Amino acid sequence: INNGVAVTPPMAFNTWNHFGCNIDEDLAISTMNKMISLGLSDVGYKYFNLDDCWMAKERTTNGDLTSDPTRFSKGIKYLADYAHTKGLKFGAYECMGTKTCQGYPGSFNHYSQDAQTFADWGLDYIKMDWCYTKQNNLDPRVVYPIFRDALNKTGREIVFSICEWGVDNPYLWGKQTGNSWRTSGDISCKWDRMQYCIEQVIGRSKYAGEGGWNDPDMLEIGNGCLTYNEETSHFALWAIAAAPLLIGCDLNSIPDSSLEILKNTEIIAVNQDIGSVPGDCIYKKDEKQIWKRKLSDGSVAVVMWNTNIESQDLEVTWEQIGLSCQTATKVRDLVEHTTYNNVDNGWKEISLDSHAVKMFRVYC
Ligand code: GLA
Repeated sequence: INNGVAVTPPMAFNTWNHFGCNIDEDLAISTMNKMISLGLSDVGYKYFNLDDCWMAKERTTNGDLTSDPTRFSKGIKYLADYAHTKGLKFGAYECMGTKTCQGYPGSFNHYSQDAQTFADWGLDYIKMDWCYTKQNNLDPRVVYPIFRDALNKTGREIVFSICEWGVDNPYLWGKQTGNSWRTSGDISCKWDRMQYCIEQVIGRSKYAGEGGWNDPDMLEIGNGCLTYNEETSHFALWAIAAAPLLIGCDLNSIPDSSLEILKNTEIIAVNQDIGSVPGDCIYKKDEKQIWKRKLSDGSVAVVMWNTNIESQDLEVTWEQIGLSCQTATKVRDLVEHTTYNNVDNGWKEISLDSHAVKMFRVYC
């Protein structure tokens, strides 16, 4: 949607993948401090988002949402104010149904009231989930727009993230309704699941763009379950697909190698390119995939991905990625940070280890 935010894919930290319901205000404060001290906010990760379980089990007597009195005793507005004084932005989670997925008060019957509460607290990002919507037969194409309008009415600029798990083809109506829409069920910290999630956006790049993005779910980088090559693949693919980059690990103990992946500014630049169509898969066969994104300066970003457990050779031609020249004046490797000049026709016999990628940017 054209609401002034998420012009490029949102970059954030979110509590869910690593912490689940084990969250409190100390974690929020220490993580925000880490976003700054680790240099993550400098490279674009500005939003800190609380996922499920921040609420009290009951609404107040006025029917307002309120935070858990023990774990978030200072309240959500306090944390949002803290974020703002540090130059960050702050977001939270709710659900369109009668309860959140973890059983906290859902927003059903309270859409306008809750949107106003979020605006009053100074929130900048709202993720709306889809649990407990069956009983009332909710149609996501009807109710998500109601919440969009309620947010809009508050007059505050708020990123609206639709979390409907790809149930009702959200890519078809997502862009008029929100700033991003989940294209699948939840990611988990497993190679196969990560591959599954990104493959759900294949062929759907055309539905996304400025103000509205396909969301293959949050990042598992730094959670210790993927190898270095797998984490690099994960980041390269999310970047080229113009997916929201939502960090989901513990920043108080993130390995250096994972931090380096998340802070790769050349790859982030591909993700945040303004004015170009998101990248998509253009070749998928024999456990080999090629993804490309034509960028606004005319260069083309490419990911060559070996989804095989064994190493194998991949190749790509310039013609295949839509370059108009035969000789590329410059090929920049975005992982290795090396440059090759005057490369004819394409890349041949690129040997990729198990689950590894090569990501580069090609200039005519
Ligand atoms: C759903 C969402 C997840 C997360 C959990 C929280 O499963 O898809 O991203 O928000 O709920 O309960």
